Amino acid sequence: MKLFYQKHFFALFIVLFFSHTINSQNRKIITFNDGWKFQKGNQKNATSISFDDSKWQNVSVPHDWAIYGPFDKEIDKQNVAIIQNGEEIPTEKTGRTGSLPHIGEAWYRTKFDISENDLSKNFTLLFEGAMSEPEVFLNGKKVGEWKYGYSYFYFDISKAILKGNNTLAVKLTNKEFASRWYPGAGLYRNVRLIIKNQEHISQWGTFIITPFVTDSLAKINIKTSINSNRGFVKTTIYDAAGIEITSQESKNLFGNEFEQNIPLKNPKLWSPEQPYLYTAKTQYFINNQLSDETTTRFGIRKIEYNREKGFVLNNKITKFKGVCLHHDLGPLGTAINKAALKRQMLLLKDMGVNAIRSSHNMPSFEQLELADELGFLFLAESFDEWKKPKVENGYNRFFDDYAEKDIVNLVRATRNHPSIVMWSSGNEVPDQWGTEGVKRAKWLQDIFHREDPTRPVTVGMDQVKAVMESGFGAIMDIPGLNYRVHLYEEAFEKFPQGFILGSETASTVSSRGVYKFPVEKGSMKQYDDFQSSSYDLEYCSWSNLPEDDFILQDDKPWVIGEFVWTGFDYLGEPTPYDEKWPSRSSYFGMIDLAGIPKDRYYLYRSRWNTKDETLHILPHWNWKGREGEKTPVFVYTNYESAELFVNGKSQGIQKKIKNGNPQVRYRLIWNDVVYEPGTLKVIAFDKNGKPTAEKEIKTAEKPHQIILEADRTKLTADGDDISFVTVSVVDRNGVFCPTATNQLQFEVSGKGTYRAACNGDATSLELFHLPTMKLFSGKLVVLVKTTKEAGKIALKVSGKGLKTGKLELESFKEK
Ligand code: GAL
Repeated sequence: MKLFYQKHFFALFIVLFFSHTINSQNRKIITFNDGWKFQKGNQKNATSISFDDSKWQNVSVPHDWAIYGPFDKEIDKQNVAIIQNGEEIPTEKTGRTGSLPHIGEAWYRTKFDISENDLSKNFTLLFEGAMSEPEVFLNGKKVGEWKYGYSYFYFDISKAILKGNNTLAVKLTNKEFASRWYPGAGLYRNVRLIIKNQEHISQWGTFIITPFVTDSLAKINIKTSINSNRGFVKTTIYDAAGIEITSQESKNLFGNEFEQNIPLKNPKLWSPEQPYLYTAKTQYFINNQLSDETTTRFGIRKIEYNREKGFVLNNKITKFKGVCLHHDLGPLGTAINKAALKRQMLLLKDMGVNAIRSSHNMPSFEQLELADELGFLFLAESFDEWKKPKVENGYNRFFDDYAEKDIVNLVRATRNHPSIVMWSSGNEVPDQWGTEGVKRAKWLQDIFHREDPTRPVTVGMDQVKAVMESGFGAIMDIPGLNYRVHLYEEAFEKFPQGFILGSETASTVSSRGVYKFPVEKGSMKQYDDFQSSSYDLEYCSWSNLPEDDFILQDDKPWVIGEFVWTGFDYLGEPTPYDEKWPSRSSYFGMIDLAGIPKDRYYLYRSRWNTKDETLHILPHWNWKGREGEKTPVFVYTNYESAELFVNGKSQGIQKKIKNGNPQVRYRLIWNDVVYEPGTLKVIAFDKNGKPTAEKEIKTAEKPHQIILEADRTKLTADGDDISFVTVSVVDRNGVFCPTATNQLQFEVSGKGTYRAACNGDATSLELFHLPTMKLFSGKLVVLVKTTKEAGKIALKVSGKGLKTGKLELESFKEK
C-alpha cells in the first residue's frame, strides 16, 4: 500500500493556497482569482497590452457585476405574453430578470507571467462559465469567443503566449430580453490556465465508466484520449482514504484513445446514502518519460431505467425526491461560492432530498463535486430554448451553431461525476410543437448518446398533448412531464417507455412567515403587499399543490420521482407578481432567498426525510386583532395523527386521511381553531396511538434581543469561505418574534469581512452588500466572509431599542 497519493495531495493544497496554482511535474493549473481589473461599458482599445486600466475597479473572479444593484424596475422590463404560461396578451413584466443591472457590455483584464522554461509548452485557457457572449483576447489578439453564458469552454492559446508578461482581456455582452430569470453577469465561474507538455492528455480526455458491478467485482472501464499517437498510459486507482488499490498500464491505443478495463474487487458502491468516491490517477508516458498526469474522482455505481421497476440504483428501486435549482446564490448573485453551495445542499439533505436538477442549464463544477461528495443524484440540463424563441434574444440565436458544441462540452467536462444519472437536452422548448422539433429532439439526444452511452436523456415537456401526438415524447429516453398532473395517466398509456418522470412539479408559491385569510386554495392569488400565503395553498395557473404530485408519486409505481419547482427561491421570475413593482425574486422556493426554510420545507421533509422526526406547526401565533376569529392550524409531520391544544384546551385529534381531499392525506389540519394569544401545542401519536412527540409555539411580546446562529463557526482562511449567520429577534422571555421588521446594522471585525445580507423578502429593494437590512418575518441572514489571514472574527448585529447580538467565529489555514 502506498501513501504517495495522500502526500502528493497535501503538497497540492499547500501550493494552491498560496498562489492558486496546482503544480504537478508535468501539468500546472493556474486559477485566475485575484488581480482582475473590471470596467463596464464599451472600452476602446481595452484589448491592447499597453491599455491603461489603472482606473478600473479591482475585482476578484468569480464575480457578478450586477448583484450590487441598485434594483430598478426599468432594467430589462419585458413587454411580453409568456406563452408557456398560457398568456395571450403582452403585459409589462418588471422584475422578470431580477431588476439588477446586468445588461450591457463589460470588460475584465488581468496579467500573468510565463517563464522562459514554460514557453515551449501547450497553454489552454478554460472558462467554467462567462455571462455572456465572451470574446477573449490575449496580448491584443483575439483567441476565441463563445456565446452561451452557461457553457464551459476552452481555447488553445499557445500561439498567442509571450515570454514574461501576458495580458488577458475578456469582453462580455448581455442583451436585454435574453432570459426568463436573473442570469447574472460577468466572469461568474473560474477561469484557469492549464500549462502542459506538447504531447498530453486531451482536455476532459478521461472517461471512466463502471459497466459491470456486483458486490464482489467491478469493471472500471477507462478511456484516455491524448493529442498524440504514441506512448502508453498508466492508471492507478486509490480508495477514498488515498490508499492505492490497483494499477494498470496499457499500450492499447485506438486512434488517439487508450482503453483499459481494470477489475476492482469488493467495490464500495456510490449512492446518496453512502457517496463513496475513488480516484484514478492517469499518467501518460512517452519513451518511458512521464509527459502528462491528471486525477479524476469517480464512483462505482450501477444505474438502470426499466419498464418494470423504473429507476434502479445499485439494484434498488429509487424514486427521485428532487428539487429544481437555478444557479444564483441569492445575495451573492451568480458568483460561484462553494460554502454557499454546500450550505444549500446540506439544507436539502436535511429535507430528505436525494436529487437536484440544474434548471435550465449546465451546473457548476463545484456543485457537481459537492453532489458526488454529499450524495445527490443529478439531472444535468443544458438549454431552456432550442431554435424557437421563448425570449427574443435567448439561446435561439445560437442554437444552430452552438448546440452540439455546448452539449459536447457539458458531457465531456462532467461525465465522470457519479452523481449525474440523467441528462436533459431542454426545458419546455417551444420546439415541442411541429415536426422540426421532433427532429431536433432526436438530433440532440443522439449527441448525448454518442458522447455518453451510459446515461439517458430527458426533456421537461409541458406541451403534453402536442408531444403525445407528434412523437416527440415517444422518442425520449425518459419522458419528463412538467406539471400537467391530469395528463400523467394518458401520457403513461401513450408513451412507450413504461414510466413517467415528474421533471418539474408543484410551483406552489409562498412567502416565509406570511399567512393570509381566509385560508383557501387559489391559483395566481395576489395581495396588496405582494406576498403569497404560507398556508401553502397557492399555486400558478399552470401548476398545482404539492399533494397532487405526492398522490401520483405514492399511488403510481410507474412515476419515477419528481423535481419540485423549486428548492430555493431565486432572483427574477416573481410569479404571481411579475407585473407588480416592487417584486424581484421568486416565491416558489421551499427555502427562501436567504436560505431560511419556509413552512413548505417541512411538508416535503415529513415525506422525504425518513430518518428524522418532523413535527412543524403553522401559522405563527401572533395575531393581534384576530382574537376570537377562526385561525386554521396546520401541522406538517411524519406522524399519522396528533392532538392540538390552545392554552391547554384540546382542539381535537386529527389524522391523515387517504380518501379525503388531497391536503388531509398529507397535512394535519384544524380549520376551526379560534385565535387567542398564548401557547399552541401539538402532541403527535405513534402508530399505536401513544403520545410520542410534542412541539409548541407561543405568542411573543415585543422584540427585545437579537439572536445570532451561525451555520459554521470554524472557517477556512482562504478569502472565500463564508459563515451564514441567521439573525432573529426574541422577546424578553426568549420567544421568537415572528412579525418583527426591525432595521438592523451589521459590523464585522477581525479576520473577516461583511459580505452580504438577505431577508428573503421578494419585494425588498435593500441592497445585499450594504451592512443594514430590515428583518422579514422576524429573520434575516448575514454572510461573513473570511480573509486570507487566519484568526478570530467578530460579528455584531444591532438595532434600535434591541439588545445587540454578538458572535465569534474563527478561521484557520487549510491543513
Ligand atoms: C415552468 C418553467 C420554469 C419556471 C416555472 C414557474 O414552466 O419550466 O422555468 O418558469 O414554470 O412555475
